[in-house]
Amino acid sequence: MTYNTGCVDAQEISTESAPFETFGNKVLLPSQQSYLWDILADLLPKTLNIKESIKNPTITFFPNILFQSTIPECDKDKEMTILDIAAGSGLISLSGSRQYPNAKFISSDFSDRLVSLSNKLAQELSLPNISSLVMDGQNLDHFLDSSVDYVYSINGLNYFPNQLQSLMEMKRVLKPNGKVAIGVPCPDNFSGSVLKEATKQLLGDSFKESSQVSSSLSNPEVFELLLKQSGFQNIEIKKHFQWLDFGCSLNPIYSDHLSVVPMEKKHLFDQVLVNEIIKSDLKMEADGKFRIKASFYVATACK
Ligand SMILES: C[S@@+](CC[C@H](N)C(=O)[O-])C[C@H]1O[C@@H](n2cnc3c(N)ncnc32)[C@H](O)[C@@H]1O
Repeated sequence: MTYNTGCVDAQEISTESAPFETFGNKVLLPSQQSYLWDILADLLPKTLNIKESIKNPTITFFPNILFQSTIPECDKDKEMTILDIAAGSGLISLSGSRQYPNAKFISSDFSDRLVSLSNKLAQELSLPNISSLVMDGQNLDHFLDSSVDYVYSINGLNYFPNQLQSLMEMKRVLKPNGKVAIGVPCPDNFSGSVLKEATKQLLGDSFKESSQVSSSLSNPEVFELLLKQSGFQNIEIKKHFQWLDFGCSLNPIYSDHLSVVPMEKKHLFDQVLVNEIIKSDLKMEADGKFRIKASFYVATACK
């Protein structure tokens, strides 16, 4: 079986777009470049009360699934090292540090502004057992072989140009019997599916699945094969979903989709997207808020 490496050919990108970095003979989409996630680091605190939201069970739902599916209840107070890759604002470490007070959490991301945000939040919340690190998730040179108990990542690996190398690195740094838990969006995850439908409408027959890096691991067979190729054992992949409050924010995933739309149609994108959102199963609740479905495959595996 072949899999989408999460990179696109240069001709798939609208030529008028900003210059793109390359990976081998492929170009990297916006979501694969750190400076665009830096912008999100500035937007996030304006649109979300992060300190409040890390206590909110709808936000901590996915991190908790990673913890519960890997750490035995009897190890709650054990000393352990936990590495979060592509951690963004550090949600896993921020919510985990309260539940596992003797664990040492390392929150890493390739966006230095997101790493600074994670550091700032850990300080403001007086959480002593977190450190943050700027690191490309494909190269874990900062870590010795067999030095980490658990490796986690939510909604990050799917963007990496070299997913196999990243998984092999995760396996290298894990202690014998160490565990990994990785979440990736499902095809029916709200934001990915409406963005994809809008892009399809504007591109018609020239639409290519491979330009959707956010959903590059949305096929569980492909995901499992990649974990096997990296040497992981006892692989289990389960689907989980959660209704989340709908907040519209521009981010690099939006930019990925817009980048493959030709210049003469770019101005139509937002309207087509809004039409797709209206057609979707967006639900208004009694409190007047809209809820969207966030659905993820979570894979767990052992070294
Ligand atoms: C959708 S966000 C998810 C953030 C976080 N895991 C969460 O669930 O809130 C994707 C994250 O992947 C990071 N990322 C993308 N490519 C990366 C790479 N090659 N190495 C490290 N981080 C990367 C981005 O900076 C961004 O923070």
